[in-house]
Amino acid sequence: MKKTVTLYARSVYWRRVAILLALVSGVAASAEPVEITAKSFKCIKEMTPVRGFFVDNLSGNLEGTLAVARSATGGVYPPGTVVQLFPNEVMVKRETGFNPVTKDWEFFELDVDKNGSTIRKRGFADIKNRFGGNCFACHVAAKPEWDMICEDSHGCKKLPVSEMAIKSLQNTDPRCKASDATLMQRFTAWTIRLLTPL
Ligand code: HEC
Repeated sequence: MKKTVTLYARSVYWRRVAILLALVSGVAASAEPVEITAKSFKCIKEMTPVRGFFVDNLSGNLEGTLAVARSATGGVYPPGTVVQLFPNEVMVKRETGFNPVTKDWEFFELDVDKNGSTIRKRGFADIKNRFGGNCFACHVAAKPEWDMICEDSHGCKKLPVSEMAIKSLQNTDPRCKASDATLMQRFTAWTIRLLTPL
């Protein structure tokens, strides 16, 4: 009799453990989509460089992001991917199916200073940068295998900005604690910020 009771108690115990494990793994598998706020963004140079641009992943899947970014044949970026070329323009890959028109990319226009980032604008097909250019209208021209990433050879209209100007703006991102900008880059960035809406 005692033995049966003990066996029963044991089986109840293990069933509880099993239910608990199932619950925990269930929660992990259906992780909530990350909330994107101004705090999601950081000094561009603290992101991972890929050729000329920088990437990050807000869902902890940097490996998945890098696999696509470094692929010679393209691919679909995983949710949580952050891509930046300029300190104040960002593309974030949202949950799958979130916005089929923009292939789930959300576009951001930021204000950046030494205290961090402020979101000026965020959205999908209707976001324009400070020069009046519609992010989506340009990026949609990238060939489908590049998932709306333009670079210099994916089919988008070229930006009227030099390599030197891009590097200068990246190296003088005011959110960065340290800067390795050369004097020439500082001067170039300063001139651009003086003469343009940046
Ligand atoms: C006039 C067309 C145009 C507009 C408008 C534009 N982009 Fe781009 N963007 C480009 C091109 C072209 C590149 C690639 C530049 C290069 O690497 O030479 C680029 C690069 C980028 C990159 C780096 C990854 C990539 O695609 O190469 C990001 C991120 C980005 N843009 C975000 C934005 C956001 C956000 C906006 C709106 C706030 C925006 N862009 C507006 C054309 C545009």
